[in-house]
Amino acid sequence: MPQSSADNAAGPPLPGTRSAVLPARLENYRFSLGEQEVPYFFGYSCRTAMGELLAERFAGRGAVLMLIDGGVQRHARDLLGSLDRNVKVVPVTIDPNEQRKSLSLVGSLLERAVAEKIGRDAVVVAMGGGVVGNVAGMVAALLYRGLPLVHLPTTPVAAFDAVLSAKQAVNLTQGKNLCGTFLAPSLIACDLAWLSTVPPHMLATGIVEMAKNVLAVRPADADRLTGAVPLIDTDPELALRTFLDIGVKAKIPFIEADPKEKAAALIFEYGHTVGHAIEFASRGLISHGEAVGWGMLAAASIATRLCGLSPADERRHHELLAGFGLSRGRLSAVDRRAVTELLSKDNKRGYLKTDGETVAMVLLDALGSPVTADGRPLIGVPRALVESAIDELHTD
Ligand SMILES: NC(=O)c1ccc[n+]([C@@H]2O[C@H](COP(=O)([O-])OP(=O)(O)OC[C@H]3O[C@@H](n4cnc5c(N)ncnc54)[C@H](O)[C@@H]3O)[C@@H](O)[C@H]2O)c1
Repeated sequence: MPQSSADNAAGPPLPGTRSAVLPARLENYRFSLGEQEVPYFFGYSCRTAMGELLAERFAGRGAVLMLIDGGVQRHARDLLGSLDRNVKVVPVTIDPNEQRKSLSLVGSLLERAVAEKIGRDAVVVAMGGGVVGNVAGMVAALLYRGLPLVHLPTTPVAAFDAVLSAKQAVNLTQGKNLCGTFLAPSLIACDLAWLSTVPPHMLATGIVEMAKNVLAVRPADADRLTGAVPLIDTDPELALRTFLDIGVKAKIPFIEADPKEKAAALIFEYGHTVGHAIEFASRGLISHGEAVGWGMLAAASIATRLCGLSPADERRHHELLAGFGLSRGRLSAVDRRAVTELLSKDNKRGYLKTDGETVAMVLLDALGSPVTADGRPLIGVPRALVESAIDELHTD
């Protein structure tokens, strides 16, 4: 496995290092994404420290184009209140709807930015979940051919997973994330207390992405993950810090070695082939994390037949994902034909030479051990096998 500075940057129970020049109560991970050094600052209920950090980082910038998730207005108001008045902020609220994660939204935001006199000396800030992060990433990449991007993630999926990536994408009418580019954030900062206002099902689905990391990359973290789940009610700060640490420790070594996520880092597509199809076909009913959970159960079932994954390891998938909000009722409401049609539009097409009857998937032959071909953790799976695994999800 690739080595990472993140492995040395933190250790349980309170991950991260504290820098003498930082405002109190913020810790940080540091990693690189290609040429870009990326600090990830975090704390819990740290509004003042966060305001000081951002004021320091935004100093000298002409303006801050702040794209704010409509679901976090209160957090945004608090944060903006703690920012230095000398920082010129242009706030724009976005309705973060997967259906609106599109080029037309990006286009309208670009027009708005220019109308608001945002110049080349501006910085684009995304405050919100993964949708706002991706849309802001596209805006930052395109406006004046590239402005710095800052992520302030407010959902578990965004904080523990999506921001740890240079991938920025929006959907086309024919499928998820089919149009995009790469832009590494210059800064990530998260007050983990922002995450405490997401509805329980969203927290659960964020944890599903961490279960993905455990199953596909770091099975040794299984006890830390399951041990942190009950802490959500009794010690949310420690629970959220643990989830973040699991996300960072799993992902950073891979994205440092493979910043465009085209080789070894494709491991984080585990569960995503079927997952993305379910998420897109559900038209907003099933969240990204929940869909990925279903996708991992399908992948495990296929791997027992195709790659020798043991029944015990398949059971481990079900055990780990139990209680994380996967609803068979919601799954049944999704058009199955739409799901199977979307399989052929998966954005991993082209990595493997596949005919229409084969689907490229990440599969495991044991926990933490992907099956690889040509340096990539991808394997062609007969379409009929994928379809039967999707059918099984409804009945298991
Ligand atoms: N590498 C990547 O770029 C990457 C990785 C993983 C996921 N993603 C993308 O992320 C998206 C999913 O992100 P998500 O799960 O964060 O969902 P989301 O962005 O759709 O947000 C879901 C809901 O949560 C609300 N919300 C956000 N923060 C909140 C808070 N603190 N309190 C209350 N409500 C809050 C939003 O308003 C929204 O209604 C997908 O589009 C997926 O493709 C991208």
